[in-house]
Amino acid sequence: MAISFEGQVALVTGAGGGLGRAYALDLAKRGAKVVVNDLGGDPHGQGENRAPAQKVVDEIKAAGGEAVANYDSVASYDGGFNMVKTAIDNYGRLDVVICNAGILRDVAFHNMSEDDWDKVFAVHIKGSFTVLRAAWPVFRQQAYGRVVLTSSSSGIWGQFGQANYGAAKTAMLGLMNVLKQEGAKYNVNVNTIAPVAGTRLTQTVMPQEMVDRLKPDFVVPAVTYLVSKECQDSGFIIEAGAGRFNRASLVKGPVVETGLDEVKDAEWIQQNWGKIGSIDGAVPMWNAQTPLAAHLASKGQ
Ligand SMILES: NC(=O)c1ccc[n+]([C@@H]2O[C@H](COP(=O)([O-])OP(=O)(O)OC[C@H]3O[C@@H](n4cnc5c(N)ncnc54)[C@H](O)[C@@H]3O)[C@@H](O)[C@H]2O)c1
Repeated sequence: MAISFEGQVALVTGAGGGLGRAYALDLAKRGAKVVVNDLGGDPHGQGENRAPAQKVVDEIKAAGGEAVANYDSVASYDGGFNMVKTAIDNYGRLDVVICNAGILRDVAFHNMSEDDWDKVFAVHIKGSFTVLRAAWPVFRQQAYGRVVLTSSSSGIWGQFGQANYGAAKTAMLGLMNVLKQEGAKYNVNVNTIAPVAGTRLTQTVMPQEMVDRLKPDFVVPAVTYLVSKECQDSGFIIEAGAGRFNRASLVKGPVVETGLDEVKDAEWIQQNWGKIGSIDGAVPMWNAQTPLAAHLASKGQ
């Protein structure tokens, strides 16, 4: 059966172009009313422009959908609340939040300024906090919510010249791992996308031919599924793009247990490093104590 968002309201940050625009168009096509947020600055976070968000709203309306623009910065606490208020004032509810807004300030670490670090963290990680902090009481109250955070291969695996961006994108995993637990009781699922697509952000690092071929549309199905009521999973990291989809995961290696009778020394660690450093038989975890398989079994999944 077709996945529908009829009767639902979605907020997509940074939806004035690139991936966010593609998510917003697909959700609107499937019946969602969409708050299209975009500050409209340049890829490095300079400036503001209302045109990109308005253009996407016009596109959605021209196709028969419903949308409203919001031009706040996700980096502003009040801005996050204003986006959620825009959803509630116009459509009376909020079901889906896609934290997508992003900028780049790539530079080798020895040349990275405090401003390069702070601006990237402000947009990516604080910018996810502000919006979700505002949405969270709404989700709890209606006992429903779907969230997608945006990480990156840089945040999961690392990329030269992106210490600020990579660290901020790894922080998304930490945010997801906590919110998936706090949201579980309220049917609020929190998952993370690590996309690859030709957009103005990747235009600086990809040849034009690749930018043209790697359409954001290749990422859209994964995000649409993750924010649908059909998706019952939470805490998943999905890499998507260029016609490829896979799950990525943090895993915990087998524990080497020594007991509490005797404190070991560094030489003991050295002697046992082969076992302690091994991830043979490693498992994904639901939380700090519980392997994912045990958690799913307890839910009858
Ligand atoms: N394109 C890729 O291959 C790729 C890879 C990994 C991660 N990502 C992530 O995907 C997301 C979307 O990136 P994209 O490639 O579509 O780039 P993009 O530049 O086309 O889109 C990002 C949008 O965010 C908006 N934005 C920036 N700062 C904002 C702020 N403070 N408040 C509100 N909006 C703001 C921009 O105006 C822009 O429209 C980003 O989080 C990016 O880091 C993209």
